Amino acid sequence: MKTMKRSSLEIARASYQPRFPAVFEGDVTIKEGGATESVSDRTEIKKIFPNTYGMPMLTLVPGEKKEHPTKNVGVILSGGQAPGGHNVISGLFDGLKRLNPENKLYGFLGGPSGLVDHQFIELTSRVVDDYRNTGGFDIIGSGRTKLEEEWQFMKSAEICRKLNISAILIIGGDDSNTNACVLAEYYQSKNTPIQVIGCPKTIDGDLKNEVIETPFGFDTACKVYSELIGNIQRDASSSRKYWHFIRLMGQSASHITLECALQSHPNICLISEEIEAKNMTLEDIVEYIVKIIVSRSNEGLEFGTVLIPEGLFEFIPVMKSLIAELNEMLADNTDFNELNSDEERREYVKEMLQPENCKVFRSLPKGIANQLILDRDPHGNVQVSPIETEKLLIEMTGKRLAQLKAEGTYSGKFSALHHFFGYEGRCATPTNFDADYTYSLGETAAVLISEGKTGYIATVGNLTQPSSYWIAGGMPFTMMMNMEQRSGRMKPVIKKAMVRLDGQPFMTFEKYREKWANDMSDFIYPGPIQYFGPTEVCDQPPRTLVLEKGA
Ligand code: FBP
Repeated sequence: MKTMKRSSLEIARASYQPRFPAVFEGDVTIKEGGATESVSDRTEIKKIFPNTYGMPMLTLVPGEKKEHPTKNVGVILSGGQAPGGHNVISGLFDGLKRLNPENKLYGFLGGPSGLVDHQFIELTSRVVDDYRNTGGFDIIGSGRTKLEEEWQFMKSAEICRKLNISAILIIGGDDSNTNACVLAEYYQSKNTPIQVIGCPKTIDGDLKNEVIETPFGFDTACKVYSELIGNIQRDASSSRKYWHFIRLMGQSASHITLECALQSHPNICLISEEIEAKNMTLEDIVEYIVKIIVSRSNEGLEFGTVLIPEGLFEFIPVMKSLIAELNEMLADNTDFNELNSDEERREYVKEMLQPENCKVFRSLPKGIANQLILDRDPHGNVQVSPIETEKLLIEMTGKRLAQLKAEGTYSGKFSALHHFFGYEGRCATPTNFDADYTYSLGETAAVLISEGKTGYIATVGNLTQPSSYWIAGGMPFTMMMNMEQRSGRMKPVIKKAMVRLDGQPFMTFEKYREKWANDMSDFIYPGPIQYFGPTEVCDQPPRTLVLEKGA
């Protein structure tokens, strides 16, 4: 294990003791709620998961002192990095040791593939202590291997038997927790004594529901991006000569973009879910942007900011239809996979597409068309991260403004710069909120494991209250499942949470966006995350969550 060179901040931050729910101050037991149902497609989900379907909700409550059996536990970090992963592991480690000092923790390396390929390390206090309160997933690495084949489950069981591991914690997003659900069901169906527990992670903010208030990492990532947006806004209003088009990560849903808008008050912010609901075309979006640019220009304001969600493309209805057909067409398509050049691939696709989708495909710049037919991720999703929508929108906006100039209805100067913020925030040092939340999730997972539970995702709720009032528990994976089309087939998956247009966060944004578009002094400069200092500066939960909870 490498010894890390630590910055002064990391040295000071290492001694931060994360706060946690009061229940962890004493002995804990589990209170069961009523039986549960999946979010939809109940008959199919019940049929696919007969052993783990319908289990009760769990709440951790104070209990009697008791003996806890010795457990060896494996942990996996899965999918995209999110601030706080190391603290889930610290909380899990501390929780397991407190319950029984003989408990051991193993980390599988490089994501789910580490479990299948038997790559692991033992996580001792010497290892874990080096990573407390730090960002990143580098303690054991991460990966996106999909666990769905029986041979993978058997190989995983083999290493668990060898290391005497009786429980696995999978820390991941919706796809990784879907894997965890499938694995839990498989082991139950085969009477294999391996428990599978999940933990809600993703900066994207889309793994949430009535029980999971937010996935971890969202808060920190949004605060990093909001700082950068604020800095750009200050630069823009100082030099007064650039429009900044800023694309923000968040594969599908626009939660990150909405949160950053609420924190920084940009002049323009696109929300994919609204664009879909209003059936807007790319041209409609450009028209909307142009209108604001012209109106600001008339006031002498030749600068501003535009926030664009990473997943925008997929939500423009004509693009959605094109992407759906491409996803289906290209799933396991050996003819297509044998083609050698981008041109050949584009021609093949044009031949095969339905006429309407073909028209849209043909209208796209070559670069974007190539990006749309690039490889899918292992879960069959189109990879939206490389699609440079911000550049496309700058190009189209520039052309439209040139037209207006020629017509004599615009006389301003449009000079635009593009940015993409994603990887900048995924490994940041977790905010106090994320550091506390993740540590509590780890502690919760330790109890669920010790109590023999399987097929549950660890939950910690009541997050807008001080941490001592937080409520720890477990939610059955199957409760979050529904059936969706993936790689051309209907599959059980965890339902992603999209931005709700009737939710408080969006409605608040909607109320103020016109003012933010035109007012000179509405920008907010959130500044960098603060780890030490007054609570109103250091301990604030995400704005979205506060608005959702009406707190
Ligand atoms: P998870 O869903 O696994 O948390 O990952 C989300 C994400 O960070 C997206 O926002 C982004 O589109 C994607 O990962 C990028 O993936 P990669 O790390 O493979 O480039």
